[in-house]
Amino acid sequence: MKSGKYRLFDLSETPYHLPLDKDSVSIDNARMSYAHHLPTAHDACFVRAYAKINLTLDVLDKRADGYHELATVMQTVDLYDTICLSASDDERVQVICTDPALSGADNLVARAALAVRQRLTLTRGVVIELHKRVPVAAGLGGGSSDAAAVLRALRHWWRLPLSEADLFAIAASLGSDVPFFLHSGLALCHGRGEQVTQLSPRWPLAMRWLLLLKPAISLSTAQVYRDLSSLDYTDGTHSRAMRAALETGSEPESADLHNCLERGVLARYPEVARARQAFLQAGARLVRLSGSGPTLFAPFAELAQAAEVQQKLQAQGYELHLTRPVYPDNEITLL
Ligand code: C5P
Repeated sequence: MKSGKYRLFDLSETPYHLPLDKDSVSIDNARMSYAHHLPTAHDACFVRAYAKINLTLDVLDKRADGYHELATVMQTVDLYDTICLSASDDERVQVICTDPALSGADNLVARAALAVRQRLTLTRGVVIELHKRVPVAAGLGGGSSDAAAVLRALRHWWRLPLSEADLFAIAASLGSDVPFFLHSGLALCHGRGEQVTQLSPRWPLAMRWLLLLKPAISLSTAQVYRDLSSLDYTDGTHSRAMRAALETGSEPESADLHNCLERGVLARYPEVARARQAFLQAGARLVRLSGSGPTLFAPFAELAQAAEVQQKLQAQGYELHLTRPVYPDNEITLL
């Protein structure tokens, strides 16, 4: 397994093939298995990687490079992966994940660490332990958020001479959503998603709680974009209206919670259409697709109502996450 001049190992090659031990202790104080066995202090670093939802996703056009030109308003929510970076006594970049399918060199967090090292011609090794909670390939940006968290954490922990512009350039090379997650919170994003304008919201009470439903399928973002019809394109009007509403504290119009990818996803994937119907029947007023799906979200003013809908849907076997918007201050814990 080769990547550039650095050799990467997957879990089966590491001597640290230990089960991660976080479920028995509080999430915030969790010590991951590898870090737990380190002899010295200040040689590990914890960071959280939050999920996002897309309040709007306007697709404006198809670009010559194959990507689509977007205007999208994204918001981070309090559903997160926990990442622990530990010093390694060799030059390897190792990834150990609670989901074994995500361990190893293909994970975007490994590519993030390698990109930083290549940029600064470093050879320092690192073990990246990843406690996954954000559903994968779900339209919630989990992989992108993990990668951004590793970029921020490495810069802080290794005291790297990387400017904000350097970090954004590395992030954009890893994926369209990665730059958004460098600061998280609420942002309007343009281009293929990598041009980020931070927004200061006055979040409407009617959307205080955000209930997420993850249908039991995973979708490929590339495939969802390939299936898009030019009839689904918009001129960015929903994202502009959403920005104006959120910056003035007024409730956005339902029609402006618009995702151009939703029509195609509902038409092609009956599981998602059925889940949407179930969500509405359980009492959600408004249900929208996040990103390229399949996760659906519904806003609620009252916790009791959101919890009631959550319970009804869980009883039907659906995976639900009851969340609220978060504005992480990019906390990084050095141990
Ligand atoms: O940038 P990222 O790797 O996350 O994108 C995954 C795929 O989604 C791209 O290869 C592309 O097919 C599609 N995409 C797109 N337009 C965007 C973002 C992603 O067509 N703005």
